[in-house]
Amino acid sequence: MAPLLEVRNLRTDFRTGAGVVRAVDGLSYTVERGETIAIVGESGSGKSVGALSVMRLIPNPPGRITGGEVLFAGRDLMKLPEEAMREVRGGDIGMVFQEPMTSLNPVLTIGRQITETIEQHRGADRVAADRRAVELLRLVGMADPARRLKQYPHQLSGGMRQRVMIAIALACEPKLIIADEPTTALDVTIQAQILALMQNLTRRLDVALIIITHNLGVVARYAQRVNVMYAGRIVESGTAEQIYHNPRHPYTVALLRSVPRLDRPRQARLDPVEGQPPDLTRLDEGCAFRSRCRFAVASCARSAPPLDPTEEKGHLSACFRNHELGVAMASVA
Ligand SMILES: Nc1ncnc2c1ncn2[C@@H]1O[C@H](COP(=O)(O)OP(=O)(O)OP(=O)(O)O)[C@@H](O)[C@H]1O
Ligand SMILES: [Mg+2]
Repeated sequence: MAPLLEVRNLRTDFRTGAGVVRAVDGLSYTVERGETIAIVGESGSGKSVGALSVMRLIPNPPGRITGGEVLFAGRDLMKLPEEAMREVRGGDIGMVFQEPMTSLNPVLTIGRQITETIEQHRGADRVAADRRAVELLRLVGMADPARRLKQYPHQLSGGMRQRVMIAIALACEPKLIIADEPTTALDVTIQAQILALMQNLTRRLDVALIIITHNLGVVARYAQRVNVMYAGRIVESGTAEQIYHNPRHPYTVALLRSVPRLDRPRQARLDPVEGQPPDLTRLDEGCAFRSRCRFAVASCARSAPPLDPTEEKGHLSACFRNHELGVAMASVA
């Protein structure tokens, strides 16, 4: 069977005063039915623009999707009429964003925001939608759901607002949820609770999940596959185990050294990724990471390395030196 989601060579530009920003530059990855994947990369690597492009939510101008395909259950979303795309958003694909205060409407009750989605996508009547809203709030672990439905977003804590966002994302029984930094605004214990909740619910309901994060440290326990993103494309893809124990791209190695890890002694030193993220208006034909890469050689300037298989099944790396340097890379991570 075809994957649930297949993103192929997606490209998105922004026209700005400073030039054309190539925010997403040949993004490709797949998500199987019911699978949880992570997309990890530092700030500005194009994670959010990539997700918004999949949903066709890029503001134009200044943005424009300039190429690629997004196959969802075999249909290319890039070719759908806008009306059909509105059905996909919130219907087949649910979304959870970083800051629920900006995505929830401050002047509508929690209940109305959930029932609105249900009525819009399911044509359910008010009573049925209300009943479903109570059920959804219970599902995401909110105590006293009937009372909560009558409240406004500002009356809820950050963690509760995020639970409401998850309820809305689940409202129409989507096949996929895209969660963009769903927990970065929350404190550490609440982060873990929300991630565990999403993992538990998506497994139980057989929903696929894309977790987008800049923190490679948190995703390990939740994602089956980890995609590492740099300058608008995936530079390494593998199981969580492969990425953590046998990284094959110098950028992944640097990222791993920059985050606290559960499998390391507490005092292990953390190194920020050295150097500056690339200027996305000035990408050339070479590898975008080479100016920060301790393994770079002359050929890295000539062309961008393709995402090639390593010797491990299902493990891909976009580095010319991945085979030659495999062990050396893993040992410095
Ligand atoms: N509306 C816009 N106009 C111009 N450039 C934009 C716009 N939106 C995003 N960009 C640029 O696209 C690039 C990718 O941004 P994106 O928001 O996808 O990064 P990110 O990986 O999600 O980072 P973060 O971890 O900070 O959320 C950045 O260089 C950003 O400045
Ligand atoms: Mg982002």
